Amino acid sequence: MSEEFVVTPWEVRGRVDYSKLINQFGLQLLTDELLERLRKHTGDLHLMLRRRIFFAHRSLDWLLSEYEKGNMFYLYTGRGPSEHIHLGHLVPFILTKWLQEKFGAKLYVQITDDEKFLFKPLSYEQVRKYAYDNVLDIIALGFDPEKTRIFLDTEYAKTLYREAIKVAKKITYSTIRAAFGLGESSNIGQIFFTSMQAVPAILESVKQGRNVPCLIPLAVDQDPHFRVARDVLPKLGFYKPAIIHAKFLPSLTGEAKMSSSEAEAAIFTVDSPEDVKKKIWNAFTGGQPTIKEQREKGGNPEICSVYQYFYFLFEPDDRKVRELYFKCKQGEVVCGDCKAELANRVIAFLEEHQKKREEARDLVDKFMLRD
Ligand code: TYM
Repeated sequence: MSEEFVVTPWEVRGRVDYSKLINQFGLQLLTDELLERLRKHTGDLHLMLRRRIFFAHRSLDWLLSEYEKGNMFYLYTGRGPSEHIHLGHLVPFILTKWLQEKFGAKLYVQITDDEKFLFKPLSYEQVRKYAYDNVLDIIALGFDPEKTRIFLDTEYAKTLYREAIKVAKKITYSTIRAAFGLGESSNIGQIFFTSMQAVPAILESVKQGRNVPCLIPLAVDQDPHFRVARDVLPKLGFYKPAIIHAKFLPSLTGEAKMSSSEAEAAIFTVDSPEDVKKKIWNAFTGGQPTIKEQREKGGNPEICSVYQYFYFLFEPDDRKVRELYFKCKQGEVVCGDCKAELANRVIAFLEEHQKKREEARDLVDKFMLRD
């Protein structure tokens, strides 16, 4: 049975079939061989790689070949500040931090305040408030202050715009229409925007005056930007950036992607323990309607948002996560217990994160790039 699904940077709808998406977008599957090659340099593999939460790539093999030849890469990722950050947004940032630690790589984090102003019914002041709020979450994850630079598009515009116009000159309106589903009624800022998201993929090359490989961790909704960028950047004499793609942490209602527009179905990093308990208590699970039926028939972890939270973020032990899967299928665990355990773990994580978030206030200026 094939259901319709849509994945663009601004909309994710339906049950996403990731193997179909690989074909649709023209991605490469992250294979055992490639991960093994990565592990030779990192010593171990992050659970998001072992569990194939990151499932696809573009040119990662090329990037590793360059690295093996001594041509060091840098990292680039980003955030569009339209709301508080939720747990789903942390997924690419957590892997980015691991990659930075393992390779000692420099990192640029782009905060696209321009994008969110252009695409959402928000004032510029609202977007800016979220931008600086989101920066705290990013710093709280523990990026290296010497090797990490964060910028808002509007505050680093002198540097970015000069490159963005060169990118924009090589992109036609019909390309944008096809890649993003934008059209006649889209505002002209939206049409231009992808040029801004392309620039950090060449920023280090521009600064150093020589080509530097770039690796971009993201969730797969952001890929269309870089499909366009990978076509254009070589025409300007730059390398194509390499990309590593994550699946979506689902929403608590079981939708494919946790999204800020469903406040009750997303756990934000600023949520209180009471919020977390309430949201998880109301979460969609793969369980049976009654405990008796759950014991008899077992649950379905594949469609269960609570199980997915353990799988993505909250059960570091591979053996235990597998055990949970089978215990659920055999009806040995019931949803109430799973939800209570998940709530405890999320609350403990957020307590620590919120502390670091407060400490981050003093570090903001050290991380920010402005011109
Ligand atoms: P934004 O703010 O929508 O999302 C930030 C990052 O989080 C990923 N993401 C998710 N990952 C897992 N599960 C989810 N439920 C989930 N929801 C979002 C996004 O794919 C993204 O990686 N335009 C971008 C900001 C940006 C950017 C970049 C992102 C600028 N340059 C380079 C990645 C790489 C945006 O609005 O992301």
